[in-house]
Amino acid sequence: MCGIFGAICDGAVSNTLKALKLLEYRGYDSAGIAALRNDKIDVYKTEGRIAALQELMRGVPESDVAIGHTRWATHGSVCTANAHPFLSPDKKFAVVHNGIIENHLQLKRELGNVRFTSQTDSETVAYLLEKYFDGDVMRTLLTVARKLQGSFAIAVLALCERKIYALRSKSPLVVGTSADGVFLCSDVRCISRWASRVAVCPDGSAVEISADGVRIFDFSGAPIQPDFFVPERAEQAAGANGDFMLKEIFEIPHRLRLAKQGYVNGGGLRLSVAEARRFRRVYLIGCGTAHNSGLQAASSARRLLDVDLLPVVASEFIYGDYPVGADALAFLISQSGETADTVRAAERVASLGGVTYAVTNTSESSLAFACKYTANICAGGEYAVASTKAYNCQLMTLALLLSELGVLRGSVTAQSHAELLRNSDAVPDAVAQVLDKSADVARLAEEVARCKAVFFIGRTTDYPTACEGSLKLKEISYIHSEAYPAGELKHGTLALMESDVCVVAVSTDPALKGKTASSVTEVTARGARALSVAPYTFPDATPLVIPQTDPFVAAMVSVVPLQLLAYYTAKRLGRDVDKPRHLAKSVTVE
Ligand code: F6R
Repeated sequence: MCGIFGAICDGAVSNTLKALKLLEYRGYDSAGIAALRNDKIDVYKTEGRIAALQELMRGVPESDVAIGHTRWATHGSVCTANAHPFLSPDKKFAVVHNGIIENHLQLKRELGNVRFTSQTDSETVAYLLEKYFDGDVMRTLLTVARKLQGSFAIAVLALCERKIYALRSKSPLVVGTSADGVFLCSDVRCISRWASRVAVCPDGSAVEISADGVRIFDFSGAPIQPDFFVPERAEQAAGANGDFMLKEIFEIPHRLRLAKQGYVNGGGLRLSVAEARRFRRVYLIGCGTAHNSGLQAASSARRLLDVDLLPVVASEFIYGDYPVGADALAFLISQSGETADTVRAAERVASLGGVTYAVTNTSESSLAFACKYTANICAGGEYAVASTKAYNCQLMTLALLLSELGVLRGSVTAQSHAELLRNSDAVPDAVAQVLDKSADVARLAEEVARCKAVFFIGRTTDYPTACEGSLKLKEISYIHSEAYPAGELKHGTLALMESDVCVVAVSTDPALKGKTASSVTEVTARGARALSVAPYTFPDATPLVIPQTDPFVAAMVSVVPLQLLAYYTAKRLGRDVDKPRHLAKSVTVE
């Protein structure tokens, strides 16, 4: 959420524009760039997408120092005035910010009788830099840093200095160098296009980049040695039809193979028997889709483990009084590894003596740094705001980790674990068979697009799949949708059944087929339309038949028709599937 880029290189303005395009998935309501000139800082900003900024900046002269920002609004409405960068009143500092300055109202009062040009918390930082400027930009920046509360990644241009300054507290920020220049950015994958060596700015650090390289300090001014590594070069190309989402869904079979290899090559769970046997409760913590993968993993593994498996939404976990001690293991699940709620939850577990285990797609992320152990889900860059392949890879990784936990605890035999590893090899092909039916899903989506509400139902291990199908559909099609355990409909929600309502029943367990058939009949008898996703058919539902797989891995397959259904329904309704309204990827504020 919100993307920041800074460049000191030839053509810094056009490179920053290119980088903002790559960062656009992090926020796309407005954008801007500040370019350092000989005697001034020029700011260009506009409401709308990066394309609007590109248009505004056509013909603008180059500079060799620039910072840019693409915004997902938190404080202040979406308008050009609230777009970043912000200039200080004397125009000597330009600031871009990702995060929330929680004490901005108090800071504004401290600044006294000045006129702000925006409704944002971020503009305060530019004004504070002017007020406290003592002739040394880094010293001033540290003074300002110590006044700020909240989360922030901030980049600053200072007039007449061919440098970029930055602050990092909680929000992500990386720096990178190459033969062509020095850069900073919110995202490792994006900066890898420009930098051959990258370092993550530590939490609570101030940074100066210049043609001479990178200097990092803590907020007391003590130097920190940057820890450089060679980033993986990330390709970021949309599919043939211009969307990332469909391309990412079609990558699932390949990515599932990599997720399994990642588990094996990464050495599996890496807990000792003594450690594994110490746990009395295992939390699975995440937000949105990552929460649904925790729900799913817990539901599938419950019968394998003699320990409480507790899926919890990260934002609830932080402030709820969930018991944590040395007997708690927490899997913190996050595609980006930067979701603020999930990182805070990891910090809470660690501070109370629990064991933290990141399950993430980004090994250099804040979450990975906050956790004792990390498992990489190997889903590759995911750029559509709606998460798809990362979900399937989270399920694969969690299934294997939890089964191995069972082996260490003695509740799963080594033989069953080996069988799971073998069965997991069949999943990519089963997903590929579902993908082969995408034209059938597209046809069903025509009908779903005409509905005013869609309910997803499933029992036991199919209920989390229903949750994920519902989340996917609502976030990109804007059709009202809810998920229910199938048996729960009759306790109130049946009142909503009518002809323009659709119910999608997910059923992968033949033992529960009859129960789900009754739920389907109950809704169709009240005029609703029913679809089923199952290895078998129901008399009253239009079927999407999926391959029968081992129940422990079935959810990695059964969610795929629902991901496709959301995609095709949103397309049918003319939605921007990759960038749904009001949302952004990588939610770095609480
Ligand atoms: C939904 C979606 C979100 C994310 C959630 C957590 O399609 O993408 O619900 O799953 O914001 O994001 P990560 O996994 O990056 O922590």
